[in-house]
Amino acid sequence: MSHPFDLPAVAGHSASAKFKDLWQAQLERWYAHPSLYRWSLGNPLTRWLTRRRTRKLFDLMSGFVHSQVLLACVRLDLFRSLHHAPANLAELARRTELAPSVLQRLLLSAVALGLLEQRSQGRFGLGPLGVPLAQHEGIAQMIEHNHLLYQDMQDPLQFLGNAWRGSMADYWPYAHAKTASTSDAHGADKFTRYSELMAASQGFVVQEILSSYFFSEHRCVLDVGAGRGRFVSELAAHAPHLNFMMFDLPPVLALAQKNMRAKGLSERVSLHPGSFLDDPLPQGADLISLVRVAHDHPDAVVRQILQKAYDALPVGGTILLAEPMAQSEPEGSSDDASVDAYFHFYLLAMGDGRLRTPQELMDMMQAAGFTHVERVPNAMPIHAQILLGRKSKCLPFEIEKSVN
Ligand SMILES: C[S@@+](CC[C@H](N)C(=O)[O-])C[C@H]1O[C@@H](n2cnc3c(N)ncnc32)[C@H](O)[C@@H]1O
Repeated sequence: MSHPFDLPAVAGHSASAKFKDLWQAQLERWYAHPSLYRWSLGNPLTRWLTRRRTRKLFDLMSGFVHSQVLLACVRLDLFRSLHHAPANLAELARRTELAPSVLQRLLLSAVALGLLEQRSQGRFGLGPLGVPLAQHEGIAQMIEHNHLLYQDMQDPLQFLGNAWRGSMADYWPYAHAKTASTSDAHGADKFTRYSELMAASQGFVVQEILSSYFFSEHRCVLDVGAGRGRFVSELAAHAPHLNFMMFDLPPVLALAQKNMRAKGLSERVSLHPGSFLDDPLPQGADLISLVRVAHDHPDAVVRQILQKAYDALPVGGTILLAEPMAQSEPEGSSDDASVDAYFHFYLLAMGDGRLRTPQELMDMMQAAGFTHVERVPNAMPIHAQILLGRKSKCLPFEIEKSVN
């Protein structure tokens, strides 16, 4: 092991944790009992539980096949081509240039996974999980992009020893090195590639923010790690009274500049190229947003960014942090807890960042000086959870004492 990743502390033991331990140990003994499996399948009251557990385990074992079925459908453009236009096997074999006998296996697998559905006259149409794939280009791009991660993880133990040396680490030029190379053409290509992917995949996150938080009290938003500016341009349409500042690395803001000009937003948006590792954040905004930025970076850098955000805000200013956060918290897991596994590994393959719980991020915000730190409830926490903090209008206690 030669790469220094953060090692966050895990929750300590409380009195209730002791009882939980005893209960979990008892459950483990029951699960391990040789006759429990047959007994519970024979009992109509417990059968569903054992079936569900077995199904979950089977899904874990076969997850790789599921992702590959998904990737094959994306690469064959099946979701877009079947949207409102179901087609039969012969027609699809002609379009995809695959033998009907093998294509049928793919189509039936996609049906089994809810991606496609069988329609009348032997035709295949979109299933409930296929519809969003036909409508949102960003999902297809993320599926294609995940291929890099799965390549890196092909041998999981080798990956754990070398996670920072794979294709994903290479994809993200800023996530390891303190200074990313922006001068050579290859380096510039990388900034364009990831910025396009981020713009394509940001839609769902932006919707979560816009439908959960009122921007009416603000006048100017500084978006830090703004990328090509999808959040800024959608917020500009949503809240016409706002002006914007965008902060990101110089090659990324060069892309953003073209985008802002094309959207007719140049008057309302000022661009501030720089690095939050080396430069202060510009002043002038009363709301600073950090969308999918903190999880890319180690704890020390996140603290630095939050401190710089605090320093750049006026008294009474607000910080809004939105990104995927851990769903499995010490007090109990949410239904979405399994998505944590994906983000733990994605962020490990990407660089020095990590998936944090909302509480960890809230503690970091408070340590930077923010008060009234709170979670903003949102409808789809898989895409992002949202945190808010204020730069308090109250005088710090020490100053208050010296004033009196
Ligand atoms: C994961 S992307 C998120 C972009 C956008 N906020 C979104 O949600 O799509 C992280 C952004 O942080 C920017 N970034 C990374 N390191 C940075 C640094 N040191 N200073 C300024 N921006 C940085 C990247 O260029 C990228 O645009």
